[in-house]
Amino acid sequence: MTLNIILLGPPGAGKGTQAARLEEEHGMVQLSTGDMLRAAVKEGTPLGQQAKAVMDAGELVSDEIVSGLIGERLDALGGDVSVIFDGYPRTAAQADALDAILAARGRKLDHVIELRVEEDALVDRITGRFSCAKCGAGYHDRHKQPKVEGVCDACGSSEFKRRPDDNEETVRTRMAEYRAKTAPILPIYDERGLVTHVDGMAPIADVNDAIETILASAG
Ligand code: AP5
Repeated sequence: MTLNIILLGPPGAGKGTQAARLEEEHGMVQLSTGDMLRAAVKEGTPLGQQAKAVMDAGELVSDEIVSGLIGERLDALGGDVSVIFDGYPRTAAQADALDAILAARGRKLDHVIELRVEEDALVDRITGRFSCAKCGAGYHDRHKQPKVEGVCDACGSSEFKRRPDDNEETVRTRMAEYRAKTAPILPIYDERGLVTHVDGMAPIADVNDAIETILASAG
């Protein structure tokens, strides 16, 4: 069965961490608009040049751009691939666009999983986050260190990087954007009976178990 799920939560809630696990364990595909935008910035494409200042400020890139990216990425996947939307949709307009994008491709939304977290913990999570510069595997200074210090568990590389928007000031803006523009879309999905809440403050493995239980209920 093909699944289409949204992982929703503020910056640092653990969306990327859990999406990576679902990719590994179920062969689902993570569609992260943040990753797509960062790739465009890195490549220096016109879209990346446009998005960079907005992302560095912690604000939201335009709805048209991100919905366009999602549509293109879905077209590149086979219709029988299960997907996790990570960091999309983030506004009511994006939620409407996603409905249209899915319907046009014969897909439908199965679950919206909200990772509930305490805001105070998020600054710690985000400012301590780093990733492998080669394969992108995610780590944290305290919560998820590589098994061998300085060596990526996944690919063995010894080069790591941090995101330019992972500083306290930008994180506060990103959280304000979440509260103002993204949190209001939850009731829309709730009315459709799609939302399940998960305690995102639990250890990473427990959050994963809770998501697995939700996905199993779909079968
Ligand atoms: P994006 O890349 O989507 O960033 P975000 O939503 O701010 O989310 P993060 O990636 O920071 O957090 P996460 O929830 O994935 O947490 P993670 O798993 O890494 O967006 C970046 C920017 O791009 C936006 O600000 C905007 O400008 C633009 N953008 C992107 N999408 C857009 C859209 N749709 N519309 C408009 N603009 C858009 O975890 C964080 C850390 O905590 C990690 O170190 C991890 O190891 C640790 N951790 C995770 N879970 C736990 C746990 N349970 N316990 C302890 N530690 C944990």
